[in-house]
Amino acid sequence: MLKLYLVCILAIFAPPTFGSDCNQKTFKSGTVCVCDLTNCDEIPKIDLTSGQAATFTTTNAGARLHRDIVYATSSDPGLNLQYARVPIASNDFSSRVYTYNDVPDDYSMTHFALQREDYQWKIPYMQMAQKYNHDLKFFAVPWSAPGWLKTTNSTAGYGSLLGSNQGTYHKAYVSYLIKFFEEYNKQGIQFWGLSTQNQPTLGSDKKTKMQSMLFTAETQRDFIKLDLGPALKASSVAKGLKVLIMDDNRGNLPKWADTVLKDSETASYVAGIGVHSYQDDQSDKHLIATHENHPDYFIFGTEASEGYKAKEQSVDYGSWDRAEDYVSDIVDDLNNWVAGWTERNLVLDAQGGPSWVSDFTDAPIIAFPALAQYYKQPMFYAIAHFSHFLKPGAVRIDHSLNVPNFDIQKSAFLNPDGSKVVVLQNKNILASYGISVKDSQRSSDHYQVHMGPRSIVTLYIQN
Ligand SMILES: *[C@@H]1O[C@H](CO)[C@@H](O)[C@H](O)[C@H]1NC(C)=O
Repeated sequence: MLKLYLVCILAIFAPPTFGSDCNQKTFKSGTVCVCDLTNCDEIPKIDLTSGQAATFTTTNAGARLHRDIVYATSSDPGLNLQYARVPIASNDFSSRVYTYNDVPDDYSMTHFALQREDYQWKIPYMQMAQKYNHDLKFFAVPWSAPGWLKTTNSTAGYGSLLGSNQGTYHKAYVSYLIKFFEEYNKQGIQFWGLSTQNQPTLGSDKKTKMQSMLFTAETQRDFIKLDLGPALKASSVAKGLKVLIMDDNRGNLPKWADTVLKDSETASYVAGIGVHSYQDDQSDKHLIATHENHPDYFIFGTEASEGYKAKEQSVDYGSWDRAEDYVSDIVDDLNNWVAGWTERNLVLDAQGGPSWVSDFTDAPIIAFPALAQYYKQPMFYAIAHFSHFLKPGAVRIDHSLNVPNFDIQKSAFLNPDGSKVVVLQNKNILASYGISVKDSQRSSDHYQVHMGPRSIVTLYIQN
């Protein structure tokens, strides 16, 4: 139990001077950090003795993970990401529509073939990422079956799988999915998980242009029970995959999970429930009820992005609003039983693409390949405030604030090594706050945290 004592509202502080090496470039909406092939700011390292703590601060005013208490250094200067989502064939952020088998009626998938996107980009980048993190886990997600297996005869746009459970088309699609894992396995890549379908409700939207495929909770339940589940179990490369259901917005919960998991046979093939962040303004009850009804199934954030709405600017350089949204969303998710959180696109170009369907959005990193340069947006640091400090197996711990304060968002965690992590966000545009953090296991220690206007602070307490 951590007690957070809100000490006082102080006068507005002048912005602090920054020790970080962020190469700042300021736009109308805020500040980005410019990186090139030789120079890029890194997250300051920590090496603390027991009971010592350091704070890391990011502010609208321009600080980026600025370490307020400086200690000697150790490993790992990056985001420390643990999971990566890999599309099975193309999606809206591909530069073209492609599948792994466009030969109609090839039900035994003899013409199945990975594409140049896999060989030139996905596989080499996955291998590079694994060099930085040997434990990096990949989960695969299909956006659509090849068109000839769908009611619409089109990979792009709406539609559902042709035929019925255990019939020719369903069997063909399942062997298509399993072939994907076999081919990646031949390249030395193992997957941790498989989401049954990206955003299954989108497949009923006749206006959608992107690759999609409809499952209702009922058809997903039957597909897993009669087709996907048994086939995965029988496959030597795919049998260990963690199967995720739903992978859509939280408003569908808990009903979707209730429907799918009520069938005990289906439930035996399922490990978790994927949830997107696009309805994160809707009640936390969706998540809480899902956890309470299905405590043995993890909830996992499978997609989040900013700048996706029609009237928004897709890329907004330096936007603090978007970093603040990310922290709010991650805190809200993690405080309500969500066990992980995945960015939609870690890197995009200046347009917010590529996207063959012009579905442009913002991203934590905006790359300028011709200049050999990239910008780390405030969103990058918003993610780092969690991902860099939380280790796999971390658990959320109870915490309370002695005075209610709607400007302050907070969550607290215990890492497997005993270190504790408190992430705080001050959304007030003017007020600064002093917060005194008291760890009930160390009754004598108070950690003083200063929070300037519009700031994010991670307090890291060494075991
Ligand atoms: C499906 O579309 C392809 C072209 O994309 C066409 O060759 C084929 O005849 C169509 N099949 C049906 C059943 O309409």
